[in-house]
Amino acid sequence: QDQDQSFWDKYHSYFVKGALYTLIFALITVISGTILGTALALMRRSKLWILKAIAVVYVEFIRGTPLMVQAFIVYFGTQVLGLNLNAFAAGAVAMGINSGAYVAEIIRSGLNSVPIGQTEAARSLGLSGGQTTRYVILPQAVKNIWPALGNEFVTVIKESSVLSVIGATELMFEGTNVQGASFKPFLPMIIVALIYFAMTFVFSRILGFIEKKFN
Ligand code: ARG
Repeated sequence: QDQDQSFWDKYHSYFVKGALYTLIFALITVISGTILGTALALMRRSKLWILKAIAVVYVEFIRGTPLMVQAFIVYFGTQVLGLNLNAFAAGAVAMGINSGAYVAEIIRSGLNSVPIGQTEAARSLGLSGGQTTRYVILPQAVKNIWPALGNEFVTVIKESSVLSVIGATELMFEGTNVQGASFKPFLPMIIVALIYFAMTFVFSRILGFIEKKFN
């Protein structure tokens, strides 16, 4: 008991810093992923086959390869190109690239969930294809997209742990630092797990609450 107390006294700043960076990564990722994912989802609906093809290949490739591999490719790939991104920047880019593919599917299914009659009605009233998407489809689709984006945020809190492999500071990486500094392999991981759980639990609860208010 006494030893646990001093362990926490000694190392709590690692966990606090790690948790903070994990939340920063999750926030950056969901924002950049949503921008990228929206572009990809709209490209996928485009009449131009080349845009459609790019979007399909992108989503399939990113979802078909591990995030860990993508993180290494971004980190070392940018070095090959002479861009020396630090682990934080490379990690944020890799997460955004990865999340964009998943968000593209979220937005695509959200857009597809709006009945075709809405499009037909808008078009027969004289709206263009773009206007129909912007003013009729999107406002209705966000009802389905919003909760799924919330889930993506929760997913990304956990998945950003993968960035520890490129040495990006976040909760998992700080947990391994504590393992090394304290020569205790087990306890730091239990603390890391509890902090991840606390974060995902709190955000799922908040999301559930917001969803209920919406309905
Ligand atoms: N575990 C998956 C992988 O290694 C990452 C999934 C990322 N998910 C997400 N919704 N961004 O590829």
